[in-house]
Amino acid sequence: MRRLKKFILFAAAIMLALPVLAIAEMDSIGKLEFQKNCAACHGMDGTGQNAPFMDFMKKSPPDLTMIAQRNGGTYPYKQVFTLIQDPAGNRAHGSADMPVWGDRYGMEVNEKYGSLDPRYAKEVEARILELVFYLASIQK
Ligand code: HEC
Repeated sequence: MRRLKKFILFAAAIMLALPVLAIAEMDSIGKLEFQKNCAACHGMDGTGQNAPFMDFMKKSPPDLTMIAQRNGGTYPYKQVFTLIQDPAGNRAHGSADMPVWGDRYGMEVNEKYGSLDPRYAKEVEARILELVFYLASIQK
């Protein structure tokens, strides 16, 4: 009986810890993705300071740790998703400095599965979402 109780407690502890672990992992996945694909222009910490590509950009990138502050204190998840997926405003205004990640990730995932595979849209979305959540975690 005591062993059963111990086991139940143990199982409950794991179940409570799982979502937290999943979030922690999501954060670190997003972090790696950010460092790999975004830090060249936005800096390792997202502030845009000391970014290696600084001199090559027509427009200096906005501080990504201040998105919530610029938006009246709320982090706009959906808007950030769109800004990463397809910064259409940039294209419309002729600034191609911020790459269109929806297309880039789309091409990578297309090579993996082909664009007709049901995993295609989900994986592109997931890769962008990781970044959206990572950026949420670095807001000041
Ligand atoms: C080649 C340089 C470059 C790379 C690489 C890059 N960005 Fe950008 N990013 C920019 C520039 C420049 C802007 C500002 C565009 C503008 O305002 O016209 C920008 C704007 C943004 C914005 C909008 C911020 C706001 O508040 O308006 C977000 C979000 C963003 N980038 C996220 C990312 C993420 C995530 C990655 C990596 C997947 C990334 N960027 C990679 C140059 C880059």
